[in-house]
Amino acid sequence: MNELAALRGRRVVLGVTGGIAAYKAVEVCRQLVEAGAHVIPVLTSGAQKFIGALTFSALASEPARTELFGNKDDPIPHTRLGQSADLVIVAPATARFIGKYRAGISDDLLSATLLATRAPVLIAPAMHTEMWEHAAVQENLEVLRQRGVSIVNPESGRLAGGDYGEGRLANPAAIVLAAAKVMARGGDLSGLRVIVTAGGTREPIDPVRFLGNRSSGKMGHALAINAARRGAAVTLITTNPLSGPEETSRSISEIVSVVTAQEMYEAVLSRFSSADVVVMAAAVADFRPKVMSPEKIKRSLGAPEIYLEPTPDILAALVERRDRQVLVGFAAETQDVAEQAAEKLRSKGVDLMVANDVSQSDAGFEVDTNRVIVLDSAGGVENLPLQTKTALADVILDRILNLI
Ligand code: PMT
Repeated sequence: MNELAALRGRRVVLGVTGGIAAYKAVEVCRQLVEAGAHVIPVLTSGAQKFIGALTFSALASEPARTELFGNKDDPIPHTRLGQSADLVIVAPATARFIGKYRAGISDDLLSATLLATRAPVLIAPAMHTEMWEHAAVQENLEVLRQRGVSIVNPESGRLAGGDYGEGRLANPAAIVLAAAKVMARGGDLSGLRVIVTAGGTREPIDPVRFLGNRSSGKMGHALAINAARRGAAVTLITTNPLSGPEETSRSISEIVSVVTAQEMYEAVLSRFSSADVVVMAAAVADFRPKVMSPEKIKRSLGAPEIYLEPTPDILAALVERRDRQVLVGFAAETQDVAEQAAEKLRSKGVDLMVANDVSQSDAGFEVDTNRVIVLDSAGGVENLPLQTKTALADVILDRILNLI
């Protein structure tokens, strides 16, 4: 797999602060776009003293942003940028900006976006050697590191004013590679065999009609793609074809297409004994018509009576047969989400239950974003904010990894 593949399709906010190395951020921007990322540049006022926003606008996926206030079409740009980002990069990051970020000061669009994001953050400092080595800067960086921020250290070389020493912005290619590694979480799932189910099952009434639901497969597909990107051997059992570049499908070890709950049951159960983790993101029908009419039911014969029977409960069957496997269920709820999900966690006997309120327009079925509550069997309850299904998939995989 291409080492930058983890950047493909990712929303990356590229922050540029005011240092002489700001011109090199243009190359970072170009390489990120080339790797398939969706790049949104955000320039501080200091950055604009060194380089024009127009240069970034010409190369990036969206026009460069510079202002926190004053845009009537987008009155709160920092929350929208922060919440929808899969990654925030600051390159170059000046000593001043690092201090501000460490202190939690949000007085411009970039610093406010950093506080408003739950996405991973990568910063590439650049400054004179004396500043780089100053105890305050090093202490600020250490605090940021402890908070989970990734740092690409500067290189030694010629600095502004003809000086020579450590502090020169890392090579753009090294920054882009570090970004890809952050997105791939350093292959932390390698060695694990993960089954993910996705999409909505269709239970036939006759050759042309079925009972179904609105699941698009996006949530399950994001989980499968990210697990593969992080090194797991993934089997995706899905009712919906996986969209995206050929390389994405190739990164998944096995893709099994199914239609009905019965087919999904058989596909999951036959692979279960060799799996380490099963994530049931699919919306599996709970009931199916008892009998499928072999011919199309004719309207002229009047409304048919359709008798239903329960489908096999896949999660229940897995719980019965489990030895070491981590089992993750999803709960699609429309009311009392946390209570219903806690009840499902108990009754299904899984390790994690990811509950989404599918009555919301920006969460659950079909949309690219989701807002979930993650409950674990030890009583933990975590309310996660609205985020892309791609970003959420990584958070769920992190929680799974904690259980292993
Ligand atoms: O595909 P998208 O458009 O991206 O939408 C994502 C989603 C809303 C489908 C997803 O986030 C989600 O909530 N999936 C689970 C939907 C569901 O079936 O929920 P449930 O509460 O009815 O079922 C609870 C759990 O039991 C689920 O993990 C389900 O896969 C599992 N189940 C259900 C029925 C059955 N016969 N066997 C099962 O194993």
